[in-house]
Amino acid sequence: MKRIRRVLGNRNKRPTPEINIKELVKKKRRSKRQRWDAILSRLPINRPLVGAEIGVLNGNTAFRILRARPLLVHYMIDPWTVPKKDSSYFNSDENAIKSSMAHEAAYNKTLKRVEFAGGRAIIMRMFSHEAAQKIKDGSLDFVFVDGDHTYLGVSKDLKLWINKLKKGGWIGGHDYDHPKLPGVKKAVDEFFEGYTEQIELDDNRTWFVRF
Ligand SMILES: C[S@@+](CC[C@H](N)C(=O)[O-])C[C@H]1O[C@@H](n2cnc3c(N)ncnc32)[C@H](O)[C@@H]1O
Repeated sequence: MKRIRRVLGNRNKRPTPEINIKELVKKKRRSKRQRWDAILSRLPINRPLVGAEIGVLNGNTAFRILRARPLLVHYMIDPWTVPKKDSSYFNSDENAIKSSMAHEAAYNKTLKRVEFAGGRAIIMRMFSHEAAQKIKDGSLDFVFVDGDHTYLGVSKDLKLWINKLKKGGWIGGHDYDHPKLPGVKKAVDEFFEGYTEQIELDDNRTWFVRF
């Protein structure tokens, strides 16, 4: 009898609400401030802007900033090509896409994502140093460095792109202080040696320096 009552008692208990772990994780991810939020907080809303992003991949950042700033013209620079096996980018960045099919897919995805922006999205399918030759000095409001994450790669990009900025513009990038990409912090700190207090760190491992 006792046993039966216990079983019935359990049956009458209100069911525990099912916890959907996947939904919880998604929600947590969505609420995290991302690199595009850090960028957008530094872009005025009602003013024409010209920017450049070195390393675009799937267009995640480009899509969001073009959508949120309708007066932005954005140079999107990425070769979407397999890095050479002996290059530092191929060997040091575990996120480096290594198959040409994957690069082609990322390129096509990007084209689709920024189609809405028409001529405001200027896609330059080439390496950073090639694009830098085509863009005038003093013509950009901002540059976001997120391509080759090695010490050498970031150092080169800083040298190549710093002069492209207008007065009052900013340069910034992703993955500062990333434990697996130590070259980024090293290159940024070294480049701004003596002025490191000017480096603003923001969410999602972003860094910014204003001129
Ligand atoms: C981390 S992903 C970029 C992510 C993108 N900025 C975003 O926020 O979604 C790095 C990209 O940099 C590109 N890349 C690597 N070396 C480069 C270089 N020297 N010049 C331009 N892009 C480069 C790679 O092809 C890859 O697509």
